[in-house]
Amino acid sequence: MTEMPNPDDYIITRKRKLYKFALFQTMTNCYDDQSWEEAKSKIVTKSPLIAEVGAGSGLFLTKLASLHPDKRYLAIDRKSDRLVQGAKKAVTDQVVNINYLWSNADNLGRLLPAGCADEIWLTFPDPWPQESNYRKRLTAPKYLSQYEKLLVTDGVLRFKTDNKELFDWSKEQLATNGYKVVFSTDDLHGDNRIAADNDALVMTSYEARYINEGKKICYLVAKVN
Ligand SMILES: C[S@@+](CC[C@H](N)C(=O)[O-])C[C@H]1O[C@@H](n2cnc3c(N)ncnc32)[C@H](O)[C@@H]1O
Repeated sequence: MTEMPNPDDYIITRKRKLYKFALFQTMTNCYDDQSWEEAKSKIVTKSPLIAEVGAGSGLFLTKLASLHPDKRYLAIDRKSDRLVQGAKKAVTDQVVNINYLWSNADNLGRLLPAGCADEIWLTFPDPWPQESNYRKRLTAPKYLSQYEKLLVTDGVLRFKTDNKELFDWSKEQLATNGYKVVFSTDDLHGDNRIAADNDALVMTSYEARYINEGKKICYLVAKVN
């Protein structure tokens, strides 16, 4: 078994980051591309699977996993030092139905089998406001087509953002890339159509900050047509 890194060996900030990278590699609920290849057949066969792409700290999905012990969760981000926060929380709170995958969304088609996901969450993805960067947005056509392959029939894509421009742009992308928006609101936390136990009301770290700043949160649910 890999030896646990000692936090005292990583005092200055850059080293703290290295410590988080090292810690990620030792945690049994965390995977990189390589270790995932060996483990995934045991994890993704158990349905329902709910994935978050661009999960950041993974704390949002960790909370959902604790609320729904009968479902399996997979938090994916290209930064392992962020994901490790959720992974640590899951260990502390004994949440065993979630895993953390350090990878880029570009690899989804290779890392996950078709039709494995009941839900895919996108929460507060980077807006990449410059038009020349639109391909990097997690609601860009190349990602939407990957999600489409991963979703089960009648599976849902759920998307939250504080950025109205990104929200409107994403709705256009969904409409022109084979999806149908089945629910949409420009004020998630003020919309009385949302039941109090709706998972969408669980806040991500970014969301809590935006709500504190008085911002409204846009939210939609889409299905493949
Ligand atoms: C603004 S943060 C939001 C994090 C989290 N969803 C939340 O609301 O707290 C966006 C996250 O998306 C991740 N990300 C951006 N592009 C990605 C990609 N192509 N593949 C995987 N993760 C990506 C970033 O590393 C970052 O952690």
